[in-house]
This record gives sequence, structure tokens and C-alpha cells, in this order.
Amino acid sequence: MKLDQFPPDIQPRLVPEPAGSYLYRCLGCASEHSIEKLLYTCPRCGSVLLIEDEGRERLKETPPALWRRIFDHRAMLTLAPLKGIYRYHELLGSVIPLDSVVYLGEGQTPVVEGEPVLRDWAGLPFYFKNDGQNPSASFKDRGMASAFSYLNFLIRHRGVRDVLAVCASTGDTSASAALYASYLSGKVKSAVLLPRGKVTPQQLGQPLGSGARVIEIPGVFDDCMKVVEYLAEHYPVALMNSKNAWRILGQESYSYEIAQAFDYDVKDLVVTVPVGNAGNVTAVLQGFMKLLELGIVTELPAVLAVQSEHANPVFLYYLEKDPRKRRYRPVTVRPSVAQAAMIGNPVSMPRVMRLVDRYRELAGEGAFRVVEVKEQEIMDAMLTANRHGHIACTQGGECLAGIRKARAEGMVASDRVGVLDATAHALKFAGFQEKYFTDGFEPEYEVIPREELRNRPLLVDSRPPPSGGGDEEYGAFVEKAARSVAEILELRGEN
Ligand code: F0G
Repeated sequence: MKLDQFPPDIQPRLVPEPAGSYLYRCLGCASEHSIEKLLYTCPRCGSVLLIEDEGRERLKETPPALWRRIFDHRAMLTLAPLKGIYRYHELLGSVIPLDSVVYLGEGQTPVVEGEPVLRDWAGLPFYFKNDGQNPSASFKDRGMASAFSYLNFLIRHRGVRDVLAVCASTGDTSASAALYASYLSGKVKSAVLLPRGKVTPQQLGQPLGSGARVIEIPGVFDDCMKVVEYLAEHYPVALMNSKNAWRILGQESYSYEIAQAFDYDVKDLVVTVPVGNAGNVTAVLQGFMKLLELGIVTELPAVLAVQSEHANPVFLYYLEKDPRKRRYRPVTVRPSVAQAAMIGNPVSMPRVMRLVDRYRELAGEGAFRVVEVKEQEIMDAMLTANRHGHIACTQGGECLAGIRKARAEGMVASDRVGVLDATAHALKFAGFQEKYFTDGFEPEYEVIPREELRNRPLLVDSRPPPSGGGDEEYGAFVEKAARSVAEILELRGEN
């Protein structure tokens, strides 16, 4: 729709001008730092940062009902920069002018109702939000659209040149960073550091295809992350991991979209996310709290974080009920089918600790929970979801396994409604399905295939005649092959 076709009172609010006063806030010493320079850690104390809008009081001048109308009407506006995460421009990047927005089709991902049999299996009604339907096939594109739009702003309006974007990755951050960098080709180059053999072939192919320098390290993600942090401290590179607070801002759009999809009534929801480096859960918590602050939602949803028992530092931390006794300890990861979340020392842990305390103050102890699942449960849940029309990846399967367990253990009531983050596309993790179907898991994974979930192709061994075969010969092939197929499918002829 064109701007002049909207109701007159809403027209002036649909195309936002740059506004606000953003700064980096240190979570350690609370110091403030200008956003004119890219910062990843506090120059004073080394802690992680979050971005705050010092001018956010102005946002309260707009009544909540008007905010909801603005966001809902923007969905109909034909203007590329506002098609993705910047539909919520005022909340997650209001200082960025629309001419700098990099939009590759991210955000506005489908919310798909759980199939009825699967809902019974899970023990409650739920929806998958399919973030695998983003341009690089994972939720990372939300944060990357934000980080690269800001970078593009620095390039276009602040004279920044020759940017090298780097990241460590379990496979999805790298795919996304490489894609967005390649869209800004000529202005930004990218390099990604991957743990050798610990990203899937599909994920490895993505940054290669986008032309990034792909560097492998024979370790795990946590090792790659340390190397990238060193690079960011000692060399002029732009760090694209979620340590970069612009990534978190963009990923808040996930919460805003959920609120919008449920007509801003989120109090009964259990927003369920798999946790690896903990950027996503940080953004989800922060996103909902921003909506509450502005009255756009009136109550917070519950947030359920899920970890595999093979990579569970956040679970172990919150296992201790007494906050004074809690001690954070990184863990050594073991092989996990939720490989993208196979992280033992999440960079955003200090952010999580801070935000969870606030979230629980606002909405009660039960509003944030962590549940741990077994590798077997993740695989079974992913495949069971796929068997009922859903396209969850292993991490999406982890969410389903997690809410099912939380429900069974009474952590979640049956009148709640799950919203499960299918964080990447199932196809990226096809190799784990293959291992399951061929009983090919190495013992460390601790996954034993269940026969009823396995599937394999069957060969009909009749060949079409070599080219030149006559009609009769070809007809004989078709008949023979069809009879074999009918036999396999136990079809009975009508005559
Ligand atoms: N699901 C998928 C598909 C992921 O790629 C990741 C993280 C997570 C869940 C966990 O999210 O880190 O925000 O807690 N992947 C990162 C990467 C680490 O490098 O691709 P998180």
C-alpha cells in the first residue's frame, strides 16, 4: 500500500526519521560509551555491553494502542527497509537512517500451529516459529541485519572504509555474516572461523558460496571464539558475534513479532529457546521487557531456555535455587546433535544473569526456567515434529523436547501455549537425520534410533531401456516398475 492510502492520522508515523540517543552500557561497571566507534567490550573493565536508548522516555509519549497500530499498519507498507526487522525501528535501531538499512528478506517468519497429534505428544498447545525461513536459513539474520545496517551507516555517513567482518561460529552466524557482507561487497569483506568438522556440510558451504575467507580450527566453538576475541582486541576488525550488541538489538525483533502474532496478548505464552552462546535468550528477554516498559504488552510471557546435557552451563547455573550460592562455571562440551548450540562458555552469560534477575522481579520466579534434555530426546523430537508437518532443525527439536519435559515435570501448566523457536532450517542438519536412519551415531552422542522413526529409500531395480528402445520395450519397463512399486505399497489392482 502507498503511504497516502493509509488513514490520515497514522501516515506521519509510518516512515520513521532517525531519532533517539543510543549508547553502549557496560554490564560490569555501568559506564557509558559512544556508539560512534564499534565496541564489543567495555574499555574500562572488559565486561560485555548492551545498547540503550537514553532518549527512550520520548517513546512513552506514544500511547500503547498507537504503537500497536503503527506496527500493524507498517506491515502493509511497500517500503523495503521497513519490511523486515525495522518494522520496529523505534525499538531496535532508531538512530539508523532508512538509507543504510540492509534488508535481505529477514524477519516476519511464519508462526505455525503445532499439529494436533504432536500437541498431545508435547502435552500442551504450541506453535513453531520458523526462523529457519530467514535468508541464510537461521534466526541469526535478524541480528546480522541490525549489525550490518549499523556498519553500513558508519560506511555511508561516517566515512568508515575497508571493513573486515569476522566471527567465530558453530555454522549459522558464519553463514549469515558472510551473506550480509557479500551484499555489501566492495565495502565489506568477511572471514569466519569454524571448528573443523563441527559444522554441517550445508553450513560450511554457505560462507564458501558467499565468498568469505573460511578458516578452520581443530577445536570447538569456544576455542574459535577466544581467537576471534583476540583478533578484535588487537586488529582493526568488525566482530560479528552476538558479543556485538547490535546483534542483540536485531534479534529482539523475534519477541516483537511474537507479540504481534498473538495480538499483543502474550501472558499465557511459554517462549521456548535453545541456548548456546546465549545471545538469543538475551534478546528475547530484553525484547519483551521493552514492550512491557512501553505498555505495548501488559504482562510478560514465560521464557523457557533449553540446553542439551552435553552443553549445559546455563542449566547448571540456574539449578542452584539460592541466588547467593549460584556459581557460574563453563563446561567442557560433548558431541551434540544440537551442534549449533554446543557451547560451554556462553559469551552472553553476564547479560543473561542480569536480565533474568529483572525478568523474575517483574514477572515472578516461574517466568524464566531452564530445562535440560538428552541427545536422544532432541533427535526423537525433531523427527517426530518432521513426521507431523514441521520443519524444525535439531535445535527446534531441542525446544520441543524441552517444553515436553517441562510440561511432564509440572514446570509448565497445560493451559499455557508454547512458542518454540525453530532456529534454523531442518535441511542444514540433514546429516544427523541420516545418522539416525542408518544407525550411524558414534557412541558419544548417546542416540539409539527408534525403529518407528527410521526411514530409508527402497530401490526398484528395473531400468528404463537405453535411448532408442521402442515404445513396446519402454512400456514393458513402465509396467514392470509400476508392479514392483505397487507390491511395495501393497496396492491392489482394480481389475
Ligand atoms: N540454534 C541455532 C540454529 C544456532 O545456530 C544457535 C547458535 C543457537 C540455536 C543458539 O543460540 O547462541 O544465541 O544461544 N549459533 C551460533 C553460531 C553460536 O555460531 O551459529 P545462541
